Amino acid sequence: MAKDDKNRTTNDAGIPVASDEYSLTVGADGPILLQDHYLIEQMANFNREHIPERQPHAKGSGAFGYFEVTKDMSAYTKAAVFQPGAKTDTLIRFSTVAGEKGSPDTWRDPRGFALKFYTSEGNYDMVGNNTPVFFLRDPMKFQHFIRSQKRRADSGLRDHDMQWDFWTLSPESAHQVTWLMGDRGIPKTYRHMNGYSSHTYMWVNAKGERFWIKYHFKTDQGIENLTQAEADRLAGEDADAHRRDLFNAIASGDYPSWTLHVQIMPFDEAQNYRFNPFDLTKVWPHGDYPLQEVGRLTLNRNPTDFHTEIEQAAFEPNSVVPGIGFSPDKMLLARVFSYADAHRARMGVNYKQIPVNKPKCPVHSYSKDGALRVDNVSDPVYAPNTKGGPAANHTYTEKWEASGEFMHAAYTPHKEDDDFVQAGTLVREVMNDSERERLVSNVVGHLKAGVSDEILKRAFEYWRNVDKDIGERIEKGVTGG
Ligand code: NDP
Ligand code: HEM
Repeated sequence: MAKDDKNRTTNDAGIPVASDEYSLTVGADGPILLQDHYLIEQMANFNREHIPERQPHAKGSGAFGYFEVTKDMSAYTKAAVFQPGAKTDTLIRFSTVAGEKGSPDTWRDPRGFALKFYTSEGNYDMVGNNTPVFFLRDPMKFQHFIRSQKRRADSGLRDHDMQWDFWTLSPESAHQVTWLMGDRGIPKTYRHMNGYSSHTYMWVNAKGERFWIKYHFKTDQGIENLTQAEADRLAGEDADAHRRDLFNAIASGDYPSWTLHVQIMPFDEAQNYRFNPFDLTKVWPHGDYPLQEVGRLTLNRNPTDFHTEIEQAAFEPNSVVPGIGFSPDKMLLARVFSYADAHRARMGVNYKQIPVNKPKCPVHSYSKDGALRVDNVSDPVYAPNTKGGPAANHTYTEKWEASGEFMHAAYTPHKEDDDFVQAGTLVREVMNDSERERLVSNVVGHLKAGVSDEILKRAFEYWRNVDKDIGERIEKGVTGG
């Protein structure tokens, strides 16, 4: 049935097509003609609909909103996005880490919390997680870690044996694994969890003074979690439960929000702080560096095209703006390379011209040409030049000092650095009895699912190092002894 002519079907060139239902044939029963270019366009497009999924964090959901500054942070940073009165358009993508694009939202896993602020000084990406720490402190191990969480070479199955093999040989993972196996390891929805930078960043104010910073986005919906049993049931009933929850909440006008706080460490305190403040497996206890409010993030707009706006969104920790810098955290410094490389591999060199990734301020870069460039390039195409082209300014660098021989080495330990100390604090001082009970039950369930004897022995030792009592309860739960 023909539709109103203004709403007619066209091919990709905008030319009206004759049928949505029938291919062009020689008579009703005859062969299909090669000249049915619209049928061919439909088949060819369909065969190319997929782009590679993200290597980690493949399953995710996103939304748009804005970030408003509520407190004056100008004493600590000159970044426009954090100046009094600033309100900045923002994109967020939440995700799980190990599962594929169609995997259940409720698998036990850290959640990604990736933000893009479209600031007046360029895009600022804060690519964090819902946990304040990470499993590792050296990027050399990251690729191996992710492989151990994904699938085996032979069966294509996920495998608890390889997960615990890696974790128990990497004791620096204990804090994050304790966190993961606790209640917060499966949030009730993306709306009911916090987001953390995890890494330490640097802030620089207008006078050039430097500070070390950690970001905490605290959910205004309150923390709520799922038990293992609830999560297992939901994984079967609705694999997209968290995506659905976020989309429906925003569609119905129930806009989720998070209040951003930061911990601020004076630049010179880093060297002698009791924990290495750049070690990603450690938090800064709140008693040492209390949270200070900065502003509020609100999500109020769903994507209208999931593929172009969320699947093709490119977050990259290298995108920091003036007033924000990196820190000596080795994991962060590796991420500064890794993400833009992943985007070039997944979407091609011109991925920043996809509308969702485009800055909302003028771009004067010297990049040119390449596959799928759509923005025009103008002369001069080189610098330096005498033709009025853009010129860089050396003041746009945030830096710290370093010296030493080249070496492959662990961080120099600070006074209280130890792989298990903060995991032990979490178990003994933050969790209550019923939370500890569920921690034991979650670990026992995980270890009973295919972990070999040798690795089990190491796992019991690992948990005894976190906390003697918890370790003994876990061993008893697994062996029945
Ligand atoms: P505090 O008592 O000041 O803070 C404890 C923190 O633990 C709170 O931020 C709370 O988050 C969070 N928390 C509560 N229950 C759980 C749970 N089941 N799993 C994970 N986190 C939970 O203590 P400290 O700052 O001295 O830190 C003590 C321990 O708390 C740390 O070793 C670390 O494991 C954990 N922690 C610390 C954070 C930090 O940045 N200092 C952040 C998160 C955890 P909330 O207030 O948002 O409910
Ligand atoms: C995604 C690498 C550590 C948070 C990714 C991707 C890569 C990667 C390659 C896929 C990017 C894409 O295709 O879009 C690394 C490396 C790490 C590291 C090399 C350490 C050396 C971390 C840490 C965090 C984190 C510590 C959190 C604090 C995320 C998030 C995503 C992601 C949230 C998904 C971003 C999105 O939604 O598009 N990581 N990662 N990663 N990573 Fe990491």
